[in-house]
Amino acid sequence: MALRRVWIALALAVSSLLPSPVVGQVMPAGPILAAADLRNGQDLSGQWNWSIDPYRDGLTGFHGGEAGPSHRRHADTDVASVRRADPLALFEYDMDAAPLATLPASWLTHSPQMRHYQGLVWYQRRFDAVIDPASRSILRFGAANYSAEVWLNGKLLGRHEGGFTPFAFEVTGLLRAHGNRLVVAVDSQRTSHDVPPPVTDWETYGGITRAVRLINLPETFVDDAWVRLEADGRISADIRIDGAQMAGVSVRLTIPELGVDRRATTGSDGRLTLRITPRKPIQLWSPNSPKLYRVEVTAGEDRWHDITGFRTLSVQASQILLNGEPIFLRGISLHEEELGADPTRHMTDAAADALLREAKDGLGANFVRLAHYPHGEPMLRAADRLGMIVWSEIPVYWRIAFDDPAVLEKTRRMLAEMILRDRNRASIALWSVGNETPIGDARNGFMARLALDVRALDPDRLVTAALLTAREMDGGRQVVTISDPLAASVDVLAVNTYFGWYGGDRLDDIGTFGWDLPTDKPFLFSEFGAGAKLGYHAEGPPQKFTEEYQAAYYRATLAMAEGIPTLAGLSPWVLKDFRSPRRQLPGIQDGWNRKGLISETGDRKVAFTVLAEWYAKKGNTQ
Ligand code: GCU
Repeated sequence: MALRRVWIALALAVSSLLPSPVVGQVMPAGPILAAADLRNGQDLSGQWNWSIDPYRDGLTGFHGGEAGPSHRRHADTDVASVRRADPLALFEYDMDAAPLATLPASWLTHSPQMRHYQGLVWYQRRFDAVIDPASRSILRFGAANYSAEVWLNGKLLGRHEGGFTPFAFEVTGLLRAHGNRLVVAVDSQRTSHDVPPPVTDWETYGGITRAVRLINLPETFVDDAWVRLEADGRISADIRIDGAQMAGVSVRLTIPELGVDRRATTGSDGRLTLRITPRKPIQLWSPNSPKLYRVEVTAGEDRWHDITGFRTLSVQASQILLNGEPIFLRGISLHEEELGADPTRHMTDAAADALLREAKDGLGANFVRLAHYPHGEPMLRAADRLGMIVWSEIPVYWRIAFDDPAVLEKTRRMLAEMILRDRNRASIALWSVGNETPIGDARNGFMARLALDVRALDPDRLVTAALLTAREMDGGRQVVTISDPLAASVDVLAVNTYFGWYGGDRLDDIGTFGWDLPTDKPFLFSEFGAGAKLGYHAEGPPQKFTEEYQAAYYRATLAMAEGIPTLAGLSPWVLKDFRSPRRQLPGIQDGWNRKGLISETGDRKVAFTVLAEWYAKKGNTQ
């Protein structure tokens, strides 16, 4: 811990150019709605009309000009009846008559023509609503990729940017009992000033990919409640209510199974903090016993609850401690893409379970790197339930516009949206601020800023990032070092390594490579991997993309890993073959990154067993 403080001091020195961590913290635009997925509400999944708009005419008002705003796709206009009434009326769209698709889902699977569509798509959902004058209504989106503008009954609610985090708008007073018209313009196009940048190594699943829900709440409600176990064995709870009256509101927190029942009142800002010594012993959450508890908070008429586990996390020199015990992270990386030949990025509970069970029961893993963006709540809840420790990340991936203050602002908002949505998840141990970002002054300051934000929003978890390395011959041997100033800002060092796949190294050599690493921080291999097409086998010498080469690559890389004393875990790249437009080797890749240990339909490759056996040997202490 002392050393960590030294590192933090160093990071602060680096970031002394930046504003103080708490003051000026960038927060989500709308309500936080902690544990929103457990809130009662009206699920607006199902049939939505959709209409493409490649030239973004609907936003610029094509035909809107002369005929006025009622001719815009988001208008609360019944086009068919207007046209019936006025045969000269000119409309060149009709959302009510547009094709239907079942959402949540990416538009890539709406129709064969949409398979590679990137750009703007208009969505409309008509719905009836129960109007209760005493309650407030909030429209919440789990995610819309990449940016979204939202209208309800012709009124603009707002805009959100970022394809992987939630956003919400208060719609109290805007709803009607019948035929509400919810219109969303979703644009998947990204520029170099977006996060992630336009080019990545995964498919851009444009659209509304997570649940849209109308949540009805009492006038005063619990907007945020962060409950966790502290190192001193007490439970801390930071609660924030939202309502006309913020100060002096009586709040009750109960954890029935632990005999916890505490009352307190809010301060002027609607906040309160509780420190609780439970009457009953806590069964700590861990991969081998992922015990979860129901936590309830009542404030006024509102009854909020979450299902969470209690555990402590820390680092000690090069070890990661879970509940005070060293743990080795036996991991695997995965994208948010369900099993199947035609995924649409609609991750249900069952789909998340299937992937994590294959990792846990098949590979013997206790850790997953959820790459390269915040996955949906179903995946995090499944990780809590199944006992999988999680690395969660924002899509600061490769080169983004680090020198653009507006990009820093939106990235900080994305980070806050991710952390505030998930900080009650026992499974999450690591917040990653980025992946393989190129070193440079603007980038270094940018990333150090993000690390400070993580510490301000959640001082309990570990900060990490996939860092860059340098390599040189030293005494006739290849030696790899971490040459990245960002290492000063993180608690856990992590590196992606592809020796033996990218670059000309021979597999026989990589086992001899040395890693000269700091000894006072845990080290992870956050990625390593080789491509293999399921069923493609080598007759003669190992051939890249055969299952044999992938297996040999794993053996060689794991042998290299065994030589690293500070190695605290690994998350090889990747559990399942996933879609990537960059991968076009015919008959082998065909638009898929083939580094999966299982195929896109879930069939195991030879290397799957290599890793599973290595994890079995590593033992399953936690
Ligand atoms: C990179 C990157 C991944 C990518 C992988 C690969 O390191 O982080 O997103 O898919 O390597 O090349 O397969």
